[in-house]
Amino acid sequence: MKSVGVAILGLGVVGSGTYKILRDHREFYRQTQGIDLSVECVLEINRQRALDLGIEESKIYDNIAEVVGNPNVDVVVEVIGGVEPAKSFVLAALHGGKSVVTSNKELFCKYWYELEAAAKRTNAGLYYEASCVGGVPIIRTLIDGMQANVVTSLTGIINGTTNYILTRMSREGLGYQEVLKDAQNLGYAEKNPTADVEGYDASYKLSILSSLAFHTRVPLDKVYREGITEIAQQDIEYGRDLGYVLKLLAIGKNDGGKNIEVRVHPAFIRQDHPLASVNDSFNAVYLQGDSVGDIMLYGRGAGDMPTGSAIVSDVIYAATHSDVKYATFKNTEHADKNVRFVTDFKSRYYIRLTVQDRVGILAKVAGVLSKYNISISDFLQKAEGVENIPIILITHVTSELSVRRAVEKIAALEDVLEVNSVIRVEG
Ligand code: HSE
Repeated sequence: MKSVGVAILGLGVVGSGTYKILRDHREFYRQTQGIDLSVECVLEINRQRALDLGIEESKIYDNIAEVVGNPNVDVVVEVIGGVEPAKSFVLAALHGGKSVVTSNKELFCKYWYELEAAAKRTNAGLYYEASCVGGVPIIRTLIDGMQANVVTSLTGIINGTTNYILTRMSREGLGYQEVLKDAQNLGYAEKNPTADVEGYDASYKLSILSSLAFHTRVPLDKVYREGITEIAQQDIEYGRDLGYVLKLLAIGKNDGGKNIEVRVHPAFIRQDHPLASVNDSFNAVYLQGDSVGDIMLYGRGAGDMPTGSAIVSDVIYAATHSDVKYATFKNTEHADKNVRFVTDFKSRYYIRLTVQDRVGILAKVAGVLSKYNISISDFLQKAEGVENIPIILITHVTSELSVRRAVEKIAALEDVLEVNSVIRVEG
């Protein structure tokens, strides 16, 4: 039976989960995969953490050179996160001819081209299923399941923290700050939540997923990004009255390889859209392929065991495949110059205004919209105050630029006290 030695760099949440899966399923993999996977060593400064998992003292290393120098290590698992020292460690492993499995979305989306070039030099494998959507096998699906298709769109809820916050705001009628604090206390959100709530984490993943889906490099700086920190409770409620659910969506669209649109932002989707029922910290990705039609993958996007599942699946893949697969496109630092990234994208829009309830105000607002060729599809007026009332408009499909210009003019109208929110409506 083939023996395969694994090194784990970092025993945080994902590293510990990975170790437990490898330890507890060793016999199962012998039987089902015909390979003997053993953890040869771990790189972890906190030795106690490793000892608590039952790892022998002699297998706990504190520098990468020892890992690379161990001839029994075939596959190096990087689960440290962030750019450095993870990048130097991964490059050292690849230079040493070891295959690498990583969950590191930030490192991967920013330096994929450099890591892949290093891997090719030594014919090493480079696997990253765990970098996107945790335990959901989205990367293998794109590479090995959807390859018969021209993928035209990808819409995902790919950040669990923000989905958890929005779900609770929606269910319990609570404000953003209140739910965030609670999510931090419960361990669902980090102490510094910026990467999740400002949409960075989702944009790292969208950069990787859309590159794979559209077979061209989609650099991070091409991904438009907005987070959920400005979302008001009232908008979730008014949206619900109109039949919508609010989600942080990651959207990629491709018209055949030349025009690509990639964006992460809060958006309303209809209550009957398959993504509308993806709640709490769950993730899902909805794909459209020209042959298969629509498919959706759903599951846990984070956590020790779900992400560990994706890591170990890559370790098994690395151990059982000698032909290494790299990106299906020229993997360079910058985008292919023939690809146009659409910035004036098309969407429907939810606009909430606070106005003084005077004769003719609606006509004035509608007048501005029509000047920009924007037509209204839904309208809601909440006569809650005596003088100042909220008005909610939903537009037909229009362009981002038209909406921005129209909103500027509407905000300047006499009797319009404030344009409170402008939220895209998708699907
Ligand atoms: N923090 C991420 C999330 C998981 O909330 O989905 C890792 O990318």
